[in-house]
Amino acid sequence: MHSDAWWRDAVIYQIYPRSFADGDGDGVGDLPGIEARLTFLRDLGVDAVWLSPFYPSPQADAGYDVSDYRSVDPLFGTLPDADHLIATAHGLGLKVILDLVPNHTSSAHAWFSEALGSPPGSRARDRYLFRDGRGPGGDEPPNSWRSVFGGPAWERVTEADGTPGQWYLHLFDVSQPDLNWANADVRAEFVSVLRFWLDRGVDGFRVDVAHGLIKEATLADWHYPSAILGELGHEGPPPPMWDQDGVHEIYQQWRAVLDTYPGGRILVAEAWVQPVERLARYVRPDEMHQAFNFEYLDTPWAADPLRKVIDTSLAANDTVGAATTWVLSNHDVVRHATRLGYPVGEGRRRGIGIGDPQPDTALGLRRARAATLQMLALRGSSYLYQGEELGLPEATEIPDEYRQDPAWFRSGHAERGRDGCRVPIPWEADAPSYGFGPSDASWLPQPPVWAEYALDRQRGVAGSTYELYRAALRLRREHRLGAAELTWEETPADVLAFRSGHVLVLTNFGSGPADLPPGVTVLLESGPLTDDGRVPQDVTVWAM
Ligand code: NOJ
Repeated sequence: MHSDAWWRDAVIYQIYPRSFADGDGDGVGDLPGIEARLTFLRDLGVDAVWLSPFYPSPQADAGYDVSDYRSVDPLFGTLPDADHLIATAHGLGLKVILDLVPNHTSSAHAWFSEALGSPPGSRARDRYLFRDGRGPGGDEPPNSWRSVFGGPAWERVTEADGTPGQWYLHLFDVSQPDLNWANADVRAEFVSVLRFWLDRGVDGFRVDVAHGLIKEATLADWHYPSAILGELGHEGPPPPMWDQDGVHEIYQQWRAVLDTYPGGRILVAEAWVQPVERLARYVRPDEMHQAFNFEYLDTPWAADPLRKVIDTSLAANDTVGAATTWVLSNHDVVRHATRLGYPVGEGRRRGIGIGDPQPDTALGLRRARAATLQMLALRGSSYLYQGEELGLPEATEIPDEYRQDPAWFRSGHAERGRDGCRVPIPWEADAPSYGFGPSDASWLPQPPVWAEYALDRQRGVAGSTYELYRAALRLRREHRLGAAELTWEETPADVLAFRSGHVLVLTNFGSGPADLPPGVTVLLESGPLTDDGRVPQDVTVWAM
């Protein structure tokens, strides 16, 4: 039985619908494909799934460009398919979280067509951020903002009479116009969208770009990059497009709506906000339930910084009574099995391609398994990204002609973008598309190494990454690690050890083997111990 606070220590598995399982063989994953694989997730031992967007969309940003918030894109299925999937998941004891994209619509949304067909100053235009240009003839964009994906954040439209007209803001792709959250229609519409899906039984929403909805009122110039997906933090004044105080009243209103539904429905903020005390504002008791802990994801693989981020994350969330979250991979970042295969402390990579320095795959996987075992013992809720339970690396050699991420195009090919973590995942080593679907079609090419990582090569195989995840999730539940108090142990500088309740969790970052306290019983290890039972470098152990 789940309680209403199920989410406080839940393990939530991110499904990227395009790439999880393809039911009809067109090369793009879909809802029937997902539904058919839900028992796999139950057997893995997760509590909930979060599905990235499956709404009608031109797919200019892989579905984060929504043209209708109340339906399903034919690419993924139908609304009855969604209902069926939700019911099946619930039948298996899995909660279902959808992805809500409130910062922008697609330019194919009916509202945006209406805005283009309406004059400046009209009600239809006021739902978006239209402004007159600067300079003679209004030829210059209204301000200096840059799109997160590269290039200017403004696009000029042609008015009904054929003359060059106003500009609209798009913090992301040109096909993703930002909504005006000062507009009452916008506010009312999203409350209605929330209710639409809550009434269909969904258990919550992951809120896309939750820190971006309100812009500083004067739209003041800004001369730093709009790096939402890149390095957190920057030198200089607070950005006028992110983390404005006005966002919070929106989430307070949504929370009040969710609280009228039974069963513990949740809001999860995707907010690239620093420091963690600012992030904690999103999860105050009358706002969202959780916020992704990207600072943890961005922390170098070393004892000291990890200890600090764990401490500050727990402390900041504790001040507002929220459950801390932990995450290592998602559809926007290089998979952690690859990220950790580079020298420690190197900056974040925004995609990897042919000709780029390649990771040490074995080292990356070894550290990734250790990192995951550490994460799953931490108090709070953990997010997993599809394929990490297989130890899947980033696809680092996708030929450029296959790339689809708008960041690749808008950055003038300066950034490879996120396609490498979005490649359809392997289920069966010897099947077409590695069992992703019934045909050999796959919207991004699957590397030949996928065979080694396929589920059927790992299921029942002692020491496989899949069995490691399954064992970890079982033990986590058994020992209630997500709800346990964390206390640090005294250790040498390059060892990190804590107790999660009565379970000792030790990770060795140093080159020499680390000792376990005498008399403990090892419950699980991310890699083999030495012959004399010590913990080698880049291995995490759970013991009692
Ligand atoms: C964050 C999403 O995770 C990302 O995939 C998307 O491109 C942007 N928001 C814009 O919606």
